[in-house]
Amino acid sequence: MRGIILAGGSGTRLHPITKAVSKHLLPVFDKPMVYYPLSVLMLAGVRDILLISTPNDLSLFERLLGTGEELGIRISYAEQPSPRGIADAFIIGADFIGSDAVALILGDNIFYGQGLGAILQAEAAVKSPCTLFGYRVQDPGRYGVATVTKSGVVTKIEEKPARPKSNMAITGLYLYGPDVVSKARTLTPSSRGELEITDLNNLYVARGEAKLVEFGRGMAWLDTGTHESLIEASNFVRILQHRQGVFIACLEEVAFRMGYIDRAQLAALGRGLLKSVYGDYLLSLAEISAKESRANTSPDKIEAVWG
Ligand code: DAU
Repeated sequence: MRGIILAGGSGTRLHPITKAVSKHLLPVFDKPMVYYPLSVLMLAGVRDILLISTPNDLSLFERLLGTGEELGIRISYAEQPSPRGIADAFIIGADFIGSDAVALILGDNIFYGQGLGAILQAEAAVKSPCTLFGYRVQDPGRYGVATVTKSGVVTKIEEKPARPKSNMAITGLYLYGPDVVSKARTLTPSSRGELEITDLNNLYVARGEAKLVEFGRGMAWLDTGTHESLIEASNFVRILQHRQGVFIACLEEVAFRMGYIDRAQLAALGRGLLKSVYGDYLLSLAEISAKESRANTSPDKIEAVWG
């Protein structure tokens, strides 16, 4: 499976802080926002990733993330010249997707919870034509909202409805088969001039091919669309990291835990970030792992520490 991070758009809702820089490069506590969706794709086992952003911002993402080689993944980059809609990602990414399945994650979506990687890996393995992830919220009218029958079948999705028919929001994480490209090409722009992800998803809904996986209360799906929600997301990350002593969306750690890089590579990345708390954290992970392997810790124990 390939992965796309969509990190363009105009960011007008967060002006003036997004006038000069992409929203997705703003800090969410101690790391740039884009780290969070990237870590989700990595946890899902996706190692071929296309990052799409504006012509202005793309070089900044490249400076931040490079080719991905240091993380044992491959990151390529593509421009979206103007915010033509979320479904445009599949037209821009057509060659990148080729005949593979693809996961799309919006660059401003933050997910966190135990077992997230396992859920995503399992869903990716099923290879459904379209898998959507739902999350119950208090303010569904700000999102795509699913109407779901008692037996769990999605009958319709409405984009930001004035009168939502349920509280089941569709999150910004989507899995599709390779036919998503041809389906996206059939879309026409909505009244706001965008190729709507909701219109695309409704094509699958109409054929009975859209699967909805609900993230339960053990999963956090955080919003970063307003100034308040942005600082709340930062506080969420700060509180959990401080309490537990483990970092959320630390790309180097995810790469190490997923087996994309080894302990020596992790330590080298930590040394490269010396004098930062983040670098210290990477070095301590490498040290703990070295101690554990010297003590011949069983794989179960390592999994428990991570999981
Ligand atoms: O966050 C989940 C929601 O995301 C879904 O529930 C909605 O169905 C979906 O339409 C979307 O709603 P938003 O109002 O959050 O979409 P927004 O226009 O803010 O864009 C979401 C992200 O995608 C943001 O990081 C910017 C990026 N984007 C958006 C558009 C329209 C692009 O990179 N290019 C675009 O053309």
